Amino acid sequence: MPASSCVEKEMPLLNRCIEDMPEGKEQAVGIDDLSVYVPRLFLPLTGEFSQRRGIDAGKLAKGIGIEQMAVPDAHEDAASMAAMSLLDLMRRNDLQPEEIGKIYVGTESSVDEAKAIGTYVIGMLEKVYGKGSFHECSTVEYKAACIGTTFALESLSYWLAAEDSELAGVVIASDVARYPLSSPGEYTQGAGSVSLLLRKRPRLLAFEQIYGSFTRDENDFFRPTGAKTAVVNGKHSNQCYLDAMTGAFDSFARRAEKKGIIKLDREKDDCVTDHIDHLLFHIPYPRMVEYASASLFRHDWKKSSGRVQQMEREIGPEPKMQDCRDAAEHQSAESDYARRFSKSPSFLQTFNEKVSGTTALSRRIGNIYTGSIYLGLASLLETKRLKPGQRLGFGAYGSGCSALFFSAIVQHQAADVPSLNLMQKLDSRKQISLKDYEMLHEQKAEKSIIKPHEEFVFAGMDSQGYRHYEYVTSAIE
Ligand code: CAA
Repeated sequence: MPASSCVEKEMPLLNRCIEDMPEGKEQAVGIDDLSVYVPRLFLPLTGEFSQRRGIDAGKLAKGIGIEQMAVPDAHEDAASMAAMSLLDLMRRNDLQPEEIGKIYVGTESSVDEAKAIGTYVIGMLEKVYGKGSFHECSTVEYKAACIGTTFALESLSYWLAAEDSELAGVVIASDVARYPLSSPGEYTQGAGSVSLLLRKRPRLLAFEQIYGSFTRDENDFFRPTGAKTAVVNGKHSNQCYLDAMTGAFDSFARRAEKKGIIKLDREKDDCVTDHIDHLLFHIPYPRMVEYASASLFRHDWKKSSGRVQQMEREIGPEPKMQDCRDAAEHQSAESDYARRFSKSPSFLQTFNEKVSGTTALSRRIGNIYTGSIYLGLASLLETKRLKPGQRLGFGAYGSGCSALFFSAIVQHQAADVPSLNLMQKLDSRKQISLKDYEMLHEQKAEKSIIKPHEEFVFAGMDSQGYRHYEYVTSAIE
């Protein structure tokens, strides 16, 4: 039996949609729509960048999985990008300010140590919708590295479920991923914002309200107060990500089985991942998603004797400590086995069916930190991979470190959500030179490369450090 077959044992796919479960319809909450904002500048990582940094372009395209990096212009920051994605979300849905109860913002690129970034965002939106139009809307900033937005989503989902009005909630992810020039993190940078519209009876995805979590204190990636770039222990951060993801997945699996949402038939070699049609992981760089998938499927399949036998037939047995002379030999056997697992037919088939479609946008944008996992959702939408009744499993990760694993069901109305046209938008971006990129990176660029037009701009800081933003309707110098 191929290890990858996603056979629905407990109920046919369509019976999972809220329309088909009248008793659950009123309580269902989830993602109704989303909007993605990406800066209009990009730097290709092949050519000038790879030559000047002395890195083989093949390593970046295959080993890291990245081709282009989104670069914010001189007038952009996490707050202006958040306002851009929110404005687009409101326009797409003809949503008025008084219809939004809460705006929670996940970011690790905040613009103030005390003031919530959402208040700047609301200030910007009020330049379009009128002063005071968001008075009744509350906003709070969630900082937990790349997982902040997902914690915000979890909180907002409980608020929505308890709320007796028809108010909507918005979760915004907005970040600029910035590492020192010429460091190994540099080629994973990116920037952008995702706004998620959360509603009762959502059109796109209904949450199953099971959140499995894992947390431990780590030094894998952090940014001391005042520092402009992150400190990263790269290889260690990869391992922390894998450990935390496995921990959160196990926590999710226990809760899903207990709640009866996933019913396993162990005698038939049934695994939790068989009940998930698409797995979306945090995407610091696309290759990490391959590492995460191999680690998670290997972990999950080990719980089924049939799967273990199948993998033994394909790549031989798992290395055992007692068969090795010492820890170093075991470590080497373990790395070798992990490599073979990631090239095995069962893994490759499962990866192609359930995971590979999530990285299309990230390859051309880079890491947008806390919004990256939702770029994965946008990638699935753009490539029309979602079908009603499918279960999505989201594995969010934040350095420091925490992981959260949760699930959601694709709804019948998902097809009614208008296309985001993101691939076309990426095609129309302006390519910049390495020199221009370095000036922007070091925040030395004196003016914008593209004159702002119909967008929010950072207009400068006053003598007290308060930031001023404008909405520019016609191109200005
Ligand atoms: N052609 C094809 N592949 C090549 C190659 C070539 N010429 N040269 C090297 N490669 C392959 C390597 O073999 C390796 O693949 P395998 O793992 O299969 O062996 C892959 O390219 C990566 O190469 P390196 O191991 O040399 O990695 P690196 O030194 O470039 O560092 C990194 C990679 C650690 C991710 C670094 O970019 C980094 O520090 N990034 C920032 C931190 C980060 O993103 N961490 C991820 C987890 S933490 C997190 O998720 C939070 C967050 O968002 C930051």
